[in-house]
Amino acid sequence: MKSTRGAALNLFEDLEAKPSTFSVAILNKEKFVEILNECSTVTDLALLNNKIIALRGIIVTPKDDREGLLNIDSNGDTITLRKDVLISELNQILEAQTIGRAKYYLKRLEDGIQGVKTSKVNDINLHRWKEYDDIIIDSLWLMDKRDTSGAHLGWYWGNFIPQIPHQMMLRYTKKDDWVLDTFVGSGTTLIECRRLGRNGIGIELNTEVVNRANELIEKEPNKYEVTTKVINADSRTINIKSVLEGYGVKQVQLLIMHPPYHDIIKFSNDSRDLSIANSYDKFLKMLGEVVDNATPFLEKGRYFALVIGDKYSKGEWIPLGFYCMNEVLKRKGYLLKGIIVKNFEETRAKRDQKQLWRYRALVGGFYIFKHEYIMLFKKDR
Ligand SMILES: C[S@@+](CC[C@H](N)C(=O)[O-])C[C@H]1O[C@@H](n2cnc3c(N)ncnc32)[C@H](O)[C@@H]1O
Repeated sequence: MKSTRGAALNLFEDLEAKPSTFSVAILNKEKFVEILNECSTVTDLALLNNKIIALRGIIVTPKDDREGLLNIDSNGDTITLRKDVLISELNQILEAQTIGRAKYYLKRLEDGIQGVKTSKVNDINLHRWKEYDDIIIDSLWLMDKRDTSGAHLGWYWGNFIPQIPHQMMLRYTKKDDWVLDTFVGSGTTLIECRRLGRNGIGIELNTEVVNRANELIEKEPNKYEVTTKVINADSRTINIKSVLEGYGVKQVQLLIMHPPYHDIIKFSNDSRDLSIANSYDKFLKMLGEVVDNATPFLEKGRYFALVIGDKYSKGEWIPLGFYCMNEVLKRKGYLLKGIIVKNFEETRAKRDQKQLWRYRALVGGFYIFKHEYIMLFKKDR
């Protein structure tokens, strides 16, 4: 069980905060808007192209800036843009065959600079959608390594990779929204909450794990000053209403569940632990109880991500992921929005005994698990 950043109500601020893997251009916003406005009054395509070429020249070779585009005065308004995206937008204007088309691309660039257009569920500035290529939109996720930065130590057997909550929060929450993770384990979700400026409540049954998780989460910088708390309780019965009320909140905007994959890993001997359920019917019933307990506190129109895998039992593939998906869908009120298939790293034991496992698979006619699911639901009532 066991890629990406940005809280975009202010995309530009985020670009500045991001440990950038791409180069950015910091521009004098007023000057930039003035140049774009000037360009939009031009009626001749060749003349417009000359202006755009000059603008592109400054972005590519800043020392050629005679316009003052890069003069940032300390009280002035600046704009931080991804250089590669900006250059590609300027190139698109240059490649236009007609002045009408060129002006259309120019207007789109201006809109992106001047305004922010977001949906109800995230901070993605749709005017600048090209800058979000770190957000995964494919249903197949092939991740070559987990994020091990900061407090993400990966110490907990059965944790998930931080990229899962990271991606879910970028697409399905806004800054300052609330996230509830009912099987929070080592607190991966809450560490990501701190990084992205979302508030997070986690519930975890195992007291020792709760204490360690809270300690580690506290070590993660909290520059957005959000609330992140792991509570020691059974997610089937905890009074979520009163927990949220304690923070002055009625509902959350994202629900994440990463339950045990039935008994693949036994997390404790506690009979309330889903990994102790003595059949998968019992396991599904317990999962259903957690879903019922949490659902009233998920805001309508918001998302629920269930991370789950399948298992083998007595030589038979048990489609546990799909059983869990059905358990949620049978409750009505949820629309299935996606089934994401994600690869996972082999466990060390399996890696060390690769040949043995290969032999066993060939003999037994089975497959080695290399994937798990993110079942994504939207609450529609
Ligand atoms: C797959 S792990 C979650 C790991 C987590 N995503 C992380 O990154 O560390 C499942 C967790 O659910 C917890 N758990 C099992 N039954 C529970 C219950 N009834 N209420 C709350 N937590 C429970 C287990 O102790 C275990 O830590």
